[in-house]
Amino acid sequence: MKNTDGTGAGKRAAGESAADLVSDGDLVGLGTGSTAAHAIRRLGARVDAGLDVRGVATSYQSRDLAREAGVPLESLADVRRVDVAIDGADQVADGDLVKGGGAAHAREKVVDSAADRFVVVADDSKLADALSHPVPVEVLPDARATVREALRDAGGEPELRAAERKDGPVVTDNGNLVFDCAFGTIEDPGGLARDLSTVPGVVEHGLFVGLADEVHVGTADGGVATR
Ligand code: 5RP
Repeated sequence: MKNTDGTGAGKRAAGESAADLVSDGDLVGLGTGSTAAHAIRRLGARVDAGLDVRGVATSYQSRDLAREAGVPLESLADVRRVDVAIDGADQVADGDLVKGGGAAHAREKVVDSAADRFVVVADDSKLADALSHPVPVEVLPDARATVREALRDAGGEPELRAAERKDGPVVTDNGNLVFDCAFGTIEDPGGLARDLSTVPGVVEHGLFVGLADEVHVGTADGGVATR
C-alpha cells in the first residue's frame, strides 16, 4: 500500500528506525531531506539520553538541523570513513537510487560511499520496479550549455532547476547549478551512471547504483520493512 495519507508517517517511521541502528562511538553520515531529518532529530534525542556519536553532514540543511538537535559534528574535510550513513531517496528500484531532490547529491554520494553501512530511508511512495525519476545532475555554471548538449546526446531531456522562492536557478551548497534530466525508464542504471560521470563539467549526478546496503521503507501506519 502506498503512503497516500500525506502525514509523513512513513518517512518518520523509516528515519527513526534507521537512527535506532546507530551505536555508541559511531560516526554517522547525516543525509539531506525530510526523511533523513527524522533520523537526525531522533539521533539528537538519543544523544540527549547519553548516546556518544558524531555526525558528518551532507548539506548546510543537515548541518543546521544537527546543530539544532544537538548532534556533535565533524567536518567532511576531516573524515576518511563513516560507520553508518542514513540518507533519503527520490526513487528506489532494486536497491538502486535516484537522489538529489534537495540538490545535495554530490556531498551525499561522498558520505554515503564512505560508509561501512549505507541505510536508505524512504516511505513506500518512493518504491518503483525500475528507475524513471528525472536524474539531478550538478554542473559547473560555466559548463551548463555544453553539459545540456551532452545530456541531450545521452537521450535525456535536461531542465535547469529553478529556485522556488526567488527568480533564477537553484544554486547548490557547492556553488553549482542542477539539471533535472528525464531519461524515461532507465534500463541500465549502471551504464547511464558511468556515462554521466564522464561528461566534462558534470560535478556529480544523482544515480546511486550498487551503493545501498539496506532500505528502510516506512508505511502510513508507522510500520517499517527492511529490504
Ligand atoms: C537530497 C536527497 C533527498 O534525500 C531526497 O530528495 C529525498 O528527500 P525527502 O526525504 O524529503 O523525500 O537526495 O539531495
